[in-house]
Amino acid sequence: MSDLATRVRPVPPSTVVLVSGGSRGLGLAIVTDLLDAGLKVAAFARTVTPELAKLADAHPERTHVGPVDVTDLAAAQAFVRAAEDRLGPLDGLVNNAAVGQDSLHVHTAAADLARIIETNLTAPLQLTRLAVRRMLAQGRRGRIVNVTSICAQRGFPGLVAYSATKGGMDAATRSLARELGGRMLVNAVAPGFFASEMSAVLGQTQLDQIVRRTPTGQLTEPAEVLPVVRMLLCDQTNINGQVIVVDGAASI
Ligand SMILES: NC(=O)c1ccc[n+]([C@@H]2O[C@H](COP(=O)([O-])OP(=O)(O)OC[C@H]3O[C@@H](n4cnc5c(N)ncnc54)[C@H](OP(=O)(O)O)[C@@H]3O)[C@@H](O)[C@H]2O)c1
Repeated sequence: MSDLATRVRPVPPSTVVLVSGGSRGLGLAIVTDLLDAGLKVAAFARTVTPELAKLADAHPERTHVGPVDVTDLAAAQAFVRAAEDRLGPLDGLVNNAAVGQDSLHVHTAAADLARIIETNLTAPLQLTRLAVRRMLAQGRRGRIVNVTSICAQRGFPGLVAYSATKGGMDAATRSLARELGGRMLVNAVAPGFFASEMSAVLGQTQLDQIVRRTPTGQLTEPAEVLPVVRMLLCDQTNINGQVIVVDGAASI
């Protein structure tokens, strides 16, 4: 065995994964994909949609879902405990829940700035801290995947606070990967714009402009993001501390 092979101890793939914001959009697609791959999934959002409830009904032994506001740390803690009682110890986390923005910085109320930062940056950092502490205490060598955005790497008007939170999560991804010293793999996936409730605020002119700026000539599809999230959670890999962009090269 080579020196490298002995030094790199692969972190075992995830089997019980917590997905925040799993009720619709990309989060619901991630929950569906992980269940299809045979994993156990705990998922929350402020509202459990009929689609998420249907998935839970279809896989009662492999799901735990509930209404939780990610900014309510006590509620998140109680949810994680109940999820572990039902599914077993957590060994993966996907920080997907977030709120969007559609306001110029000078017109964004202080309360809205605070809400965007609390939901998209403070809360995922808290949830990550909670999950990592539990995984370390239980001797799990887990995986963290942060859903960020190309907005962290390229400027978009109307998304100043949102972009700042996503850039913050990209930076946290790198530092946490270093801090955990290989006991867990920590990565981010940064999608380009895709159709969802969050991006519904974009007008046709903006969408046409994004498509024109994209070498592959199309908006990102959630289906194109799923294999990357699954790979980072499930595959034996040495990818760590990276932000993987899925945007058809719109941001280069
Ligand atoms: N759409 C895009 O173009 C795009 C591009 C790049 C990156 N992203 C990122 O991709 C991820 C998913 O976005 P999406 O477009 O699928 O958005 P979406 O359709 O608006 O879904 C957001 C999810 O997060 C949940 N959520 C929001 N606030 C929450 C809170 N306080 N507590 C708990 N759950 C909360 C929502 O449920 P409730 O509202 O019921 O709580 C929902 O399940 C986000 O991280 C987003 O920043 C999106």
